[in-house]
Amino acid sequence: MFIGLDLGTSGLRALLVGSDGAVRGLAEAHYGVSHPHDGWSEQDPADWINACKSVLAELAKARPKEMAALQGVAFSGHMHGATVLDADGAVLRPCILWNDTRSHMEAAALDKADNVREISGNIVFPGFTAPKLTWMARCEPDLFGRVAMVLLPKDYLVFWLTGQRVSEMSDAAGTSWLDTGARAWSDTTIKASGMRPDQMPALVEGNAVVGEIRADIAEILGLPRGVQVVAGGADNAAAACGVGTMGEGEAFVSLGTSGVMLAGRNRYAPAPDSAVHTFCHAVPDRWYQMGVVLAATDNLNWLAGITGQSPQTLTAALGEDIRAPGPLRFFPYLSGERTPHNDSVIRAGFAGVGAGSDAKSLTKAVMEGVCFALRDSYEALKSTGVELASALAIGGGTRSTLWTKMLSTALDLPLERPAQGEFGAAMGAARLAISGVTGVTPQDIMTKPKIAEKILPDADLRLAFEDAYHSYKNGYSHLKALQ
Ligand code: XUL
Repeated sequence: MFIGLDLGTSGLRALLVGSDGAVRGLAEAHYGVSHPHDGWSEQDPADWINACKSVLAELAKARPKEMAALQGVAFSGHMHGATVLDADGAVLRPCILWNDTRSHMEAAALDKADNVREISGNIVFPGFTAPKLTWMARCEPDLFGRVAMVLLPKDYLVFWLTGQRVSEMSDAAGTSWLDTGARAWSDTTIKASGMRPDQMPALVEGNAVVGEIRADIAEILGLPRGVQVVAGGADNAAAACGVGTMGEGEAFVSLGTSGVMLAGRNRYAPAPDSAVHTFCHAVPDRWYQMGVVLAATDNLNWLAGITGQSPQTLTAALGEDIRAPGPLRFFPYLSGERTPHNDSVIRAGFAGVGAGSDAKSLTKAVMEGVCFALRDSYEALKSTGVELASALAIGGGTRSTLWTKMLSTALDLPLERPAQGEFGAAMGAARLAISGVTGVTPQDIMTKPKIAEKILPDADLRLAFEDAYHSYKNGYSHLKALQ
């Protein structure tokens, strides 16, 4: 038996699976995010530990036989967070999260430093880890002076369970401290951010065993002795392991709170100027690239909120038949924009609203706008050499057949909707645990889910969507000029 634990921004999800990858149990615990100042976003690592204890206790109660046979666990987790420890391993301050923008000035400065983009393969985004430490040096110099080690959020849980200070390539790639092509820490970027190499944890691949759960913790948690902890993966890398997106030609597009288009790569092909992320995958010799849309289904939730209707009622009013985009355009930048503009201050807007525009036409424009934003990400991926014949469609928004049809037509790409099941980051983490402990190769365990349905671009509407995408693309600079 194995457990994949996904440390998400709002909660921890634990998935108990057999060595065949079949699900045997599930538990969840929730925690909050604090925003002590505008743009700040923090979490107390002690809350993660409590959540971890609670999900393991819940599984032990519900599945005692399976839990007695537990062999390995692995984590996936939200990326980029800075968990800072002193020389004794004590947490110095709340973890500064991926969506915290306080260090935007430090990020912009580091992004311009010599070779940082070239080595890390990415723009230094305000949410990345390195600028957070530069911010601490400026604003919290006493605490900064006591920082002996920086751990990424899920790696802090590995440290708690095993006593080992270790990270793995997929999460390390989101710090700006990694030479992403060479899969090793970069002294150059570490020094450029005012840090020292000895403040970085040891590095392994995501399917490597880190160590055993400490006997005292195993006893408190009621776990058997000798359970192995495998390094795991960053949330997007683990999600890719969960759906078998591992190498060339494999991709998924996720229509969730935020939107992601992610492609597996057998080679390292960074393109930082397109604001595409190029990160190490959680298994050896693989990378992945992704475009990120900061708000996806969130735009529909917003429209639902202000019209006093549910998102389901809004979309149901459109029926299931796809229609050509009208003159109404929506730019889905409610929370800023990442790929391709890297603009955290831009905000959303409608264009072409007429006297006849109603909730139905606004809904249609919002759904189309999200599809065009994902098309922007797809174009950025193609510029790095990504070639796809189809992609998996996952995330809450793809439950709407109409939205999935719109997306397929906007991308001009067939989309495969998986049959019901578990295939998120927790499943990817469980698969990493299985690979690490049993030695099964990643390609044998990290397979694609069963496909329920393939949705094809609507041939009659392709040109209309293409025209609308071009007007959408031109719209960004006009919107920017107004703000
Ligand atoms: C990736 C990113 C998010 C976070 C939170 O760059 O910021 O995926 O990991 O989920």
